[in-house]
Amino acid sequence: MSENLRAVRGFNDILPPASAHWQFVEQVASAVLEQAGYGEVRLPLVEATSLFARSIGASTDIVEKEMYTFGDRNGDSLSLRPEGTAGCVRAGINHGLLNGSQQRLWYRGPMFRHERPQKGRYRQFHQIGAEAFGMAGPDIEAELIAVAARLWQRLKLDRLQLTLNSLGSVGDRARYREALVGYLQHHQTSLDEDSRRRLETNPLRILDSKVEATCEILSSAPRITDFLDAAAQAHFSRLREYLDALGIAYKLDPFLVRGLDYYTGTVFEWTTDALGAQDAVCSGGRYDGLVAQLGGRPTPAVGWALGMERLLLLAEAQGRLPEVAPPQVYFVALGEIAACEALVLAERLRDTLPRLRLTSNVGGGSLKAQLRRANRLGARLALIVGDTELDGRKVTLKFLDREAEQETVAMDDLSTALRRYLTDPVGMDPGTD
Ligand code: HAM
Repeated sequence: MSENLRAVRGFNDILPPASAHWQFVEQVASAVLEQAGYGEVRLPLVEATSLFARSIGASTDIVEKEMYTFGDRNGDSLSLRPEGTAGCVRAGINHGLLNGSQQRLWYRGPMFRHERPQKGRYRQFHQIGAEAFGMAGPDIEAELIAVAARLWQRLKLDRLQLTLNSLGSVGDRARYREALVGYLQHHQTSLDEDSRRRLETNPLRILDSKVEATCEILSSAPRITDFLDAAAQAHFSRLREYLDALGIAYKLDPFLVRGLDYYTGTVFEWTTDALGAQDAVCSGGRYDGLVAQLGGRPTPAVGWALGMERLLLLAEAQGRLPEVAPPQVYFVALGEIAACEALVLAERLRDTLPRLRLTSNVGGGSLKAQLRRANRLGARLALIVGDTELDGRKVTLKFLDREAEQETVAMDDLSTALRRYLTDPVGMDPGTD
């Protein structure tokens, strides 16, 4: 295929059967979120570039290097959203959702970052995110963490480790930043080049460095936890008490700072050792200043977002993705009149048995050819209509998944017969209206 007809690097097609796995995870996540009172928002993929610069931060990697930014025909600078929080806050302000009331929202969909693609890291990736507004205490943080934990539990995932930190108040963070810069300036010549640059622009991000020499310098660096004021300390220890009460295990990491500037107070991340380098499956934290920063009334806020691709890789590695269900029934029709009758009968069956998975033969073919198609799809049962069946207003049932005599059933009794043959305890139930 010529080069320009391929998908863009880092952008993936999601095809069956994988798309059924996406649907499965999305259904479980939406059920868990809705059960806890989170309502779904559907937000634009494109926003004004300034929204991201003002929220994520102009000197973050995301805004500096990774956004898909373009001028539209009016000359406005727009960007494909690299994450969902900024747009969610923007929408909340625009629609008056954040005027002092509590809001629990969630979203899903594609995000775009021009990162170097590798396993678990893509340029178009998908998040499911949850954001809670108007609640300042650690109880909402515990709730959000418990919602994520419930999702892991419903998906039967293990090897997910929760890490927590607190960045304190804006003042705590400023004092810490000063101390960190002072310390690192003493070691400037031994720092890697990226970290030296960040010393000027975004020193807290140096804490994320994976470069060995820098890590060694960091091991004796000042820690944010020593700079928290009494209120921030009390808040953080209350959160830990809530998590203990909920039985949710966590690890503390004073170097967890996150790559977005809007965080204040608690930050957290769920990582796994099962995916290699791209180990963060779900991350988030508190961002109490953002709503006011974007022009809304001061509103405390906290949230998280999980990466769908990483969650699916983990679920796959742990064998937790359900088998994709083949059609239960394949409708074989011999001749044109039978084909028309079969179409009508198939529609009637789909009406009365809403969960029935029925594929109709289309495009004719011999009995043998049609049964071959049915077998290839993995159907359990073939319904056959030919001249004889038409004359007697009957349908022949041929079992494809077991040795059994074929049977004939009156067309009018077909749905009753299918309900009898296909009901089983593992979700093959064709359903009733
Ligand atoms: P983030 O840490 O930038 O936070 O992204 C959240 C999650 O998205 C990551 O933990 C990871 O699973 C996934 N992710 C990020 N980049 C990629 C990529 N290039 N390819 C695949 N997956 C990726 C945020 O986006 C914040 N908005 C989270 C948040 C919500 N904080 C408060 N509320």
